[in-house]
Amino acid sequence: MTMPGSAGTMARPDGIGDPSGQKAARAFVVAMNSAIRAVRLYPVENAAVQKAIAELGNTADRVRESEGGCALRRVGDYLFVNETRLRLTFDNYAAVASLLGMFREAGIGGIGLFDKPQPRAWVVLLSFLQSPPLEYPEEDRLAQLSSRLDSAQVHDFELFPSTDENEDLDTDLDAKEKARQTYVRSLDVTREVITSARLGRSPGLKRVKRAVQGIVDSILTDSASMIGLTTLRDFDEYTFVHSVNVCILAVALGRRLGLTKIQLLDLGLAALLHDIGKSRVPLDLLNKRGQLEPEERLVLQTHTWQGVLAMFALPTGGVRPWRSMTAAYEHHMRTDLSGYPKVARPRKLSLYSKIISVADGFDAATTTRVYQDSPWTPADVLRGMRDNPRLGLDPVVVKAFINLTGIYPVGTVVVLDTFELAIVMAANPDATALSRPIIRILMDDRGNLIDDPTLVDLTAQVTTGQFARTIIRTEDPQRYGINIGDYFA
Ligand SMILES: [Fe+2]
Ligand SMILES: [Fe+2]
Repeated sequence: MTMPGSAGTMARPDGIGDPSGQKAARAFVVAMNSAIRAVRLYPVENAAVQKAIAELGNTADRVRESEGGCALRRVGDYLFVNETRLRLTFDNYAAVASLLGMFREAGIGGIGLFDKPQPRAWVVLLSFLQSPPLEYPEEDRLAQLSSRLDSAQVHDFELFPSTDENEDLDTDLDAKEKARQTYVRSLDVTREVITSARLGRSPGLKRVKRAVQGIVDSILTDSASMIGLTTLRDFDEYTFVHSVNVCILAVALGRRLGLTKIQLLDLGLAALLHDIGKSRVPLDLLNKRGQLEPEERLVLQTHTWQGVLAMFALPTGGVRPWRSMTAAYEHHMRTDLSGYPKVARPRKLSLYSKIISVADGFDAATTTRVYQDSPWTPADVLRGMRDNPRLGLDPVVVKAFINLTGIYPVGTVVVLDTFELAIVMAANPDATALSRPIIRILMDDRGNLIDDPTLVDLTAQVTTGQFARTIIRTEDPQRYGINIGDYFA
């Protein structure tokens, strides 16, 4: 029995793999992630679980048949299937991020398959992996998991130890993939910080700062790619995805407001950690579906000052992230202090808090969340932020935000006066053209799907003063079964 990558041979970091290898690897990883979700959500005998496990088995077979074995490992921030480094694309980067996180929490570097595991073996493995023995230190978890598998009579898998290898493999990535890699890394780091804070352990800030540095660099070089990624919505990973989105939006906004690079790094850190206090709120409350009871809401609201305490517990080498603490404390306070926590004396919110409140309010309101059946369109949210003073946002910061995103932010689905349906891909580089973003047309005037990646600039005119196309209203993408993330590949 051969198992590429096992017995000490490391998957090579430079292994990009051929296109067919990429395809099989990608299918396997996406199937694995779906199967994990199914196992988490439904009882084992549920048809959804059976189907997901069968699909996982099939995709693993395909990899095994063409490559003589199947091993999935984590090397630094990358996933490898055998020798193939998985390229990040729109359909897999959420899956990659959550598998990376799962391996790290389980204290393993990956898994290899002996022969063809039976469906039952897959279910047992995935159930164990998604509730790893967190009560043990990381280095002991692999042995714990192995013995659990043994006692469940599952002998189909080899668990690899985790490696410290963390080479910088970003050099051969194109700008878009680099942005996605930065996003995945940030997601992973955020999860690490929040889950270890939950367990009463404190990770250092070094990795977090490195991730923030990546975001700041991406915003400074190619902000459109990075902002496009904030259209990612993921219910299961809500807190992490939200933190990364808020970080990206806050940094982009800070740049608009003229902050220096050093300030942007500081702001980005504060934004990434703004909800760290949620690590001290019970999980069942965070994940509760439907309306919260008044007393539950009060508990959730403690995440502001709990965030300050959580940051006191971080080992920072003596230098406390004061501005991050202030922002965690103030980000729901509102400029008129009508929010929470309540303060006895009048105060002015810090600039970082004002910026983070705007980014936070925008991302939260545009996300389908537990207590929001249908999220507002991004354009509705912006209008509310601008016109509703009760939200307590700083009007100057909101104005800068609208300047950044345009009136129709990235990911908005719009109807044009030609009756075509389109999606907003980027704000217009001409900052005065707030209502004329760069779009991609999705459907023609009869509702036929168009698969044309060409971008259209809405400032284009047929004759002087007469625009070729104009937005007449926004639409709910769900009505058309449109998955926004698909368009930001
Ligand atoms: Fe918050
Ligand atoms: Fe938040």
